[in-house]
Parts: sequence; C-alpha cells; structure tokens
Amino acid sequence: MPLLAFETSCDETSAAVVERGRVLSNIVSSQIRLHAEYGGVVPELAAREHLRQVIPICRAALRQAGVSPERLDAVAATQGPGLPNALIVGLKTAQALAFALRRPFVGIHHHEAHLYSPWIQGDPPVADFLEFEPNVSLIVSGGHTMLVHVQEKLTHHLLGSTLDDAAGECFDKIGKLMGMAYPAGPEIDRLAEQGNPSAFAFPRPMLREPDDDFSFSGLKTSVRYHLRDHPEVLDHAQALRDVCASVQAAIVEVLVTKTIRAAQRLGVGCVTASGGVTCNRALRRQLTDACRREGLRLRLAQASLCTDNAGMIGILADEKLRLNLGTTALDEEIRPGWSLE
Ligand code: KG4
Ligand code: ZN
Repeated sequence: MPLLAFETSCDETSAAVVERGRVLSNIVSSQIRLHAEYGGVVPELAAREHLRQVIPICRAALRQAGVSPERLDAVAATQGPGLPNALIVGLKTAQALAFALRRPFVGIHHHEAHLYSPWIQGDPPVADFLEFEPNVSLIVSGGHTMLVHVQEKLTHHLLGSTLDDAAGECFDKIGKLMGMAYPAGPEIDRLAEQGNPSAFAFPRPMLREPDDDFSFSGLKTSVRYHLRDHPEVLDHAQALRDVCASVQAAIVEVLVTKTIRAAQRLGVGCVTASGGVTCNRALRRQLTDACRREGLRLRLAQASLCTDNAGMIGILADEKLRLNLGTTALDEEIRPGWSLE
C-alpha cells in the first residue's frame, strides 16, 4: 500500500514514499544556497527551483523505495499554508500523477504534518501512533512559531502563535546583524556552545503574558541596539560567542517556559516539538530538563524530520487514509493561508 508524498511549501523540494506507517524514502533538496545571497527565501526563485527539482526528486524517492509508480496506492501533497507559487508545484504534480494513475489524492495541512512528526522515530523512520497521547505541541521554524493543544489524534486547537517574527526568523535576522550567512540558526547554536548565556540580559518577550502567543521582533531590536553601541563585540571571538549564547538563552527560555506552562494549564502529560529550530541543542536540552522536572513525557522530532520534508506529509496522509477520513478532489486549489483551526 505505498503512498507517494510531496512537500514544496517553502524552500525545500521533497518527495517521500510511505507504506503502512513506515517511511521508505524521504528525499529533500534544500534551496538554502540559492537563497543565501538574498538573506532569506525569495518566493519567485523558490517556485522556479521547485519546478526544476520536483520530477528528479520524485524519481529519486521512488527509486530509493524500490517502488514503481504503478504500485502506488495514493498520492499526497502539502496543500497549504505556504508560498503560493511554491505550493502549486507540489500540489499540481501530485494531482496530475493521481489522475494519470487513477489513485486517490490527499491534500495535507503543513502544520498538521509537523504536529505528528515527533511520533515518527527510528531509521528507517516508523510512526508509532499506538503510543499517542494528548499533548501540547511546539512548532518552531523559520516560518512559524506556534503552540497547539493536540487533544486526541487528528483533533487539535491552536493555542497561540507569533505576533511578528518566527523564532527561526529571529535567529536568522540576529545572525545577519552579526554578519552571518542565512540561515544563521545553526551557526548561532554552534558558537553559543562556548559562550556565556548570562553575559548579556536580552529581553524575554511575552514571557510573563498569560496567553500562549510569542513575539520576537523586540529581541531582535534590542540586539541591534546592543551591537550599535558595542560594535567591538563583532571583532572579539569570545564576545561574539557570549552574544550568541545570550540571544539563544532568551529565545529558548521563552519557548520552554510557555510550552511547559500551557501543558500544565491544560493538564496533559506530554509535550512534543518539531520544526527546524527543534534542531537547536539548547532548546532540546532545556525542554528535556524542564519536562523531567515537571513529570512530563517529551517527544522531540528527530533531526531528519524537524525541517520540512515529505516524509511527515506522507505519514499523515497514510494515517488519514487508514482511518477513512476522505480524500481531496483533483481540482482543488492550493490554500496558502490555510489556518490550523
Ligand atoms: O523547518 P525549517 O527547515 O523551515 C521552515 O519552514 O522555516 O526551519 C528553518 C529554520 C531557520 O530559521 C534556521 O535558522 C532554523 O530553522 N534552525 C535553527 C537550527 N537549525 C535550524 N535555529 C537554531 N538552532 C539550530 N540548530
Ligand atoms: Zn514547516
């Protein structure tokens, strides 16, 4: 019962083959280098690159899984939210394939796929939904920062999201102020390991607000003023590491504190996290420590499934088909602003 899935909502072209909860192949072609010189994703360039990559990536996913197109039982793709012209490439490719093969098609909500990615573990990755329990889920990437209450499998409620920049965007923009290449998150993570997180007291935006929303643009501004007033920091390796560690400490403290607080308020026993920023080592460590302290079980998406990938799209589509939750019409359009509610 193999299923082929596509993900092209932002700057990763990805195709995956999934069979009975098992990820047989998950090919991801990142456009990071293409967008690096512009300091962020350029939507038109992203769409053109998806168009160039989508068929070769699709072939590679089928080849690696050892599955011929005729053996596919279904096709899936991210339908939204995301960059319109990027979404169109994956969605229309998947719908055309489903039409040609006379197979059902499933359009997937990108964030809903992130929500269940922490339940896919191992190599090759396998979904263990038998272990599923209600949780509070943190989705943190370059494009999104949200807290979601997952009441039961495939039932969720959006608790809060960022009012301005996403957490990953905050890492990237602050890195840019320090002259780092896009995306700067991994570089800040690396330098922060040898820095002092208490060296500079950067603000913890919205930490004490009782709601579940986030805001990171004020932190970015505060770092901008700090660097303006202390330009010498950029010439001293240790001072730079200290800034990185202090910035990271501010972001991580807000994310961890608000996630744990939401879990306690809602009385769930489990916390999950996914999205590119979940690769951050301080975030992984501090979520682990906080959950242990508070008696919460923690599931972190594994590195290969943190960033955007078609494997998580395929797993969710496979589960929805298994539960007979319906399919998506072949003439349905992209949903760039699709809300999680
Ligand atoms: O999920 P993703 O690949 O794409 C989006 O949908 O945005 O996430 C990319 C984001 C970038 O902002 C990048 O800087 C951030 O995740 N990121 C990190 C780390 N690895 C990736 N941020 C902090 N620490 C990391 N180790
Ligand atoms: Zn994403």
